[in-house]
Amino acid sequence: MALEKLVIKNFRCLESVEFDPHPDGNIIVGENASGKTSLLEALFFVGRGRSFRPSQADGLIKDGSPAFQLVATVGHKGRSLVLGLEVAKETRTVRIGGQPAKSLGELAEYLPVQVIDPDVHKLVEDGPGGRRQFLDFGVFHVEHTFLETWRRYQRALKQRNKALKTDPKVASAWDPELIQAGEALDVLRRAYVDELLPVAQDWVRFFLDGDLELRYRSGWAVDRTLAEALSHSRQRDRDFGATLVGPHRADLELRVHERAARGRVSRGQQKLLASALLLAQVELMETRSGPGVLLLDDPAAELDGERLSRLLARVQGLGSQCFVTGLSLEALAEFKSGSVFHVEQGKLRRVL
Ligand SMILES: Nc1ncnc2c1ncn2[C@@H]1O[C@H](COP(=O)(O)OP(=O)(O)OP(=O)(O)O)[C@@H](O)[C@H]1O
Ligand SMILES: [Mg+2]
Repeated sequence: MALEKLVIKNFRCLESVEFDPHPDGNIIVGENASGKTSLLEALFFVGRGRSFRPSQADGLIKDGSPAFQLVATVGHKGRSLVLGLEVAKETRTVRIGGQPAKSLGELAEYLPVQVIDPDVHKLVEDGPGGRRQFLDFGVFHVEHTFLETWRRYQRALKQRNKALKTDPKVASAWDPELIQAGEALDVLRRAYVDELLPVAQDWVRFFLDGDLELRYRSGWAVDRTLAEALSHSRQRDRDFGATLVGPHRADLELRVHERAARGRVSRGQQKLLASALLLAQVELMETRSGPGVLLLDDPAAELDGERLSRLLARVQGLGSQCFVTGLSLEALAEFKSGSVFHVEQGKLRRVL
């Protein structure tokens, strides 16, 4: 799955852009505030229905415009498919192959996109929410039963939490569904972590010269089933008015050189570790469900010269379509495949 064409209207500083990317590699250069990250963001939005920067969808609309539009042509199962979306302050419209879709979430299947940006270390440093999202994105793309299971779990959790706040006596009516979907989710995530670990270890050795341990924490005590944990937590759940155990409390514990990565390794090492995990995910996705799209936003600002060259060289060996931004072409000299684009004041032109 690759991006064949992207037409952007009124997305951040990009008023009107037609982007015809190369199927393998694309370099996007431009000065600060020219619109490089905005271009990657537009691309990410087509795949995920959200930005990778902390911003509400309507904050992405160009100042003074009522809405932004993105029309992407993507290669999907051997044919071209058009994904269209419009985001206005109050409304969202999504079309997949000309047919209206219910939500932005439905886009995820058509353009698997992953990003490594200057905030990548947050995957390691911040709370477990980002790591669960990372994990679930990976499972979603390799395991087709995931989405339905995840939705069932979220529905049951929402209803149970609502009941805990309004009528705690009926909350346990949601337990069977919560347990069944929750245990299934747990099995899928564990299997994924087992598959991801050797690929991630390889990338961590490549970047950090260290051994990675990934430990999946279910979100409830290891010596209990989810049913036992829910029953044990019943009174606390009532006191807090929320379900305190289950896959929605899971985490992925990261250890490098036998030390917990969070709060222990340097910021630079956190960036490398997070990049290693994301690249491992892209690589695993390629082998399981075909190539996707990888965005590298300003890697030259994050990595020393030696690591940057190694990263760019290795990324080109992946089958995924790559988009790399930078202030100048010289910094990205190691990245040789594909086309080069220049962005200036929100205007894009191909230069090579
Ligand atoms: N909603 C918006 N409407 C109009 N312009 C916006 C909007 N949001 C952000 N911008 C502007 O878009 C410009 C480009 O931002 P962007 O982050 O894409 O630049 P960049 O080329 O990645 O810069 P850098 O090299 O500093 O990372 C900035 O000047 C920013 O203020
Ligand atoms: Mg930028």
